Amino acid sequence: MSTAVIISLVTAAAVVLGVAVLFTSARRGGVRGGGVLSRETRQRDRKTQSAPETEISGRDIEREANATRGGVLVKAPPVEMQEWSPPDEETLGVTRRQFFNRATVTLMTASLGGFGAACIGFLWKGATGGFGSKITVGKIDDVVQSIRTNKGFLYLSEARSWVTEYPKDAIGKANLIYGKQAPVISGMEAGIVALYQKCPHLGCRVPECKSSQWFECPCHGSQYNRVGEKKGGPAPRGMDRFAVSITNGVLVIDTGAVFAGPAIGTNTTGQEAEGPHCIGTVGGHH
Ligand code: FES
Repeated sequence: MSTAVIISLVTAAAVVLGVAVLFTSARRGGVRGGGVLSRETRQRDRKTQSAPETEISGRDIEREANATRGGVLVKAPPVEMQEWSPPDEETLGVTRRQFFNRATVTLMTASLGGFGAACIGFLWKGATGGFGSKITVGKIDDVVQSIRTNKGFLYLSEARSWVTEYPKDAIGKANLIYGKQAPVISGMEAGIVALYQKCPHLGCRVPECKSSQWFECPCHGSQYNRVGEKKGGPAPRGMDRFAVSITNGVLVIDTGAVFAGPAIGTNTTGQEAEGPHCIGTVGGHH
C-alpha cells in the first residue's frame, strides 16, 4: 500500500468521523430543544407576564379573618390550675422487676430480722429467766417430795441441774468440806443439793442411775454418788453445784453462780452403790 493511498484512507476516516460528531451534536440539541423554546411555551410565558400573580401576605390573611369574625376577639374562659400530685404507684401497677426487688428485700429483711431476734433472745435469756439466772423451783417440802417420787433424783431442765436430797446427819462433815461455799451449805442444811448436769470431765450431761442411786456418765464412765461426790472414772473432781437459797420455804437455784465440785476422795455421805451400775463398774478406768 502506497503512502498516497494511506493518506487518502486517513483523510476519508477523518471526514467520516467529523460528520458523525456533527450529526450527534445536532441530534442532542434537538432532543433538548436545542436551546430554543417551543411556541406554546413562549405563549404561556407571555400570558403569565401580562397577568402577574398578586402576592398574598400573612397580614392579609389575618385582616381577612378579623373581618370575618367582625373584629371581636372571643377570649377563652380562664382554666383553673390544679396542683400536681404524683400518680399512685399501686394504680400504675407493679412491674415484674419491682415485684422481684420487693420480694427479695422482704425475704432478706425477714431472715435478718428473725436471726437478729434469735440472737437477742439468746443473749437476753439470762435477763428474762432461764439458765444463767435465779430460778424459783417451788416450796422446799414439795421439792423434796418430788425427789422421792422420782426415786431420789429430780431433774430441772430449765436450771440444767439435778436436785437430790442431802442427808441431814452428814451436815457436820459437809461443813468441813463445803464450809467455804455458804450458798451450797445453806441448801444442804435445808436438805437438798443442786448439781450441775455437766460432767466435770469433758462436759457430757450426766444422767442418774436409779439402780445404783449414783450418777454415772455414759461418755467415759465417771461415777458420782447422789450428792455429786466423785466415786470413779476420769473426772478431775465431783460434780459442780449451784448456789441455792430458801426464802419463806421457797427454793431458788441461782444458775449464775456455779461452785466447783469437791475434790477426789470426798465422801461426806458414805453412800455406796445401792444396786447394779448403769455404766461400767465402780472406779471405771479410762
Ligand atoms: S465426760 Fe463424763 S466421764 Fe468424761
